[in-house]
Amino acid sequence: MKILITGGAGYIGSHVVKQLLELSSCEVTVLDNLSTGNKATINTLEKIRDFNFLQLDLKEFDKINQFLTEEKFDAIIHFAAYSIVSESMQNPLKYYLNNTVNTTNLIECAIKSGVKKFIFSSTAAVYGDVQENVNIKETFATNPINPYGMSKLMSEKILQDASKNFPDFKYVIFRYFNVSGADMYFDKDNLCPRIGENHNPETHLIPLVVKTALGKRDLLNIYGDDFKTPDGSCIRDYIHVEDLANAHIEAINYLEENKSDIFNLGYSKGYSVKQIVNAVKDVIKIDFKTTIVDRRAGDTAFLVADNSKVVSTMKWKPKFDNLELICKSAYEWEKTI
Ligand SMILES: NC(=O)c1ccc[n+]([C@@H]2O[C@H](COP(=O)([O-])OP(=O)(O)OC[C@H]3O[C@@H](n4cnc5c(N)ncnc54)[C@H](O)[C@@H]3O)[C@@H](O)[C@H]2O)c1
Repeated sequence: MKILITGGAGYIGSHVVKQLLELSSCEVTVLDNLSTGNKATINTLEKIRDFNFLQLDLKEFDKINQFLTEEKFDAIIHFAAYSIVSESMQNPLKYYLNNTVNTTNLIECAIKSGVKKFIFSSTAAVYGDVQENVNIKETFATNPINPYGMSKLMSEKILQDASKNFPDFKYVIFRYFNVSGADMYFDKDNLCPRIGENHNPETHLIPLVVKTALGKRDLLNIYGDDFKTPDGSCIRDYIHVEDLANAHIEAINYLEENKSDIFNLGYSKGYSVKQIVNAVKDVIKIDFKTTIVDRRAGDTAFLVADNSKVVSTMKWKPKFDNLELICKSAYEWEKTI
């Protein structure tokens, strides 16, 4: 099977590439413009097994069209996008152009070149501000409150409409909750991640916490402690990137026999910001300073998946549903960068 991974030099994409290289004999091609991903990740992955790497921007429509026509991929896993919520509020067109327009073009080229399976990275941000503290099902209303979430929801709709028109072209849409942790690679008995999260700027909680623990930042900001949650800080569903990555491989198998669908990817378990801070302190035995600052615009109190659909429908078995492992792998990775 020939698989194209867009955004494979980035955080999540690189973990899927790693699993494909380690687990199966499929032919892997990564397409990435290295705008937020990096070449060092590609070099690390090349040590596992050879694969094709093409540095190209998805906005190069003619080149994308020609490339897909020549290569005739069986499946595309599409990660390439921008994903900083605050940046999307300041520069919405940057998000609509890269996330929605480029995705639309990729879908068209995929259909024209005979691709049968398309796996799309969407986000819990499509649900918007869920008022009740309840786990979110895929059937909940979608109501994004920022251009990032809207750019992904629009891509979901375009993908669904395109597939209705071309029934041989099937999709799985994954709505990720908070992806975290790093490569679970062991050297003898020591956890030594070879790849992990390295965004610049970093906006995700767990890498920010471990950076603070390592003295790369002076203190950790906790945005609001007056939410309607037991300790007042926001609650999120943190899923290990290895489990999330593995779901993409299952999705390709799933589409062999099954129809297109949308799935949440999370553990159905929420931890507050303060619980994450304490978990990291417990795991790595380092104390560090935190400070309570004002809430950020658009932060909701509680964002936790109901993952019963993916668990009952796909052969996906999470292996790292363990906050200690998530924090430890993020910390071991952070020490290397
Ligand atoms: N990290 C999370 O917690 C999270 C949560 C929900 C959804 N997502 C989605 O998952 C996907 C991957 O996220 P990530 O955290 O790995 O991000 P990332 O920034 O680490 O990776 C994105 C990759 O896409 C590449 N890219 C971006 N625009 C491109 C373009 N026009 N042409 C070619 N390559 C391009 C970047 O260089 C980068 O390597 C994104 O679609 C994101 O919206 C991530």
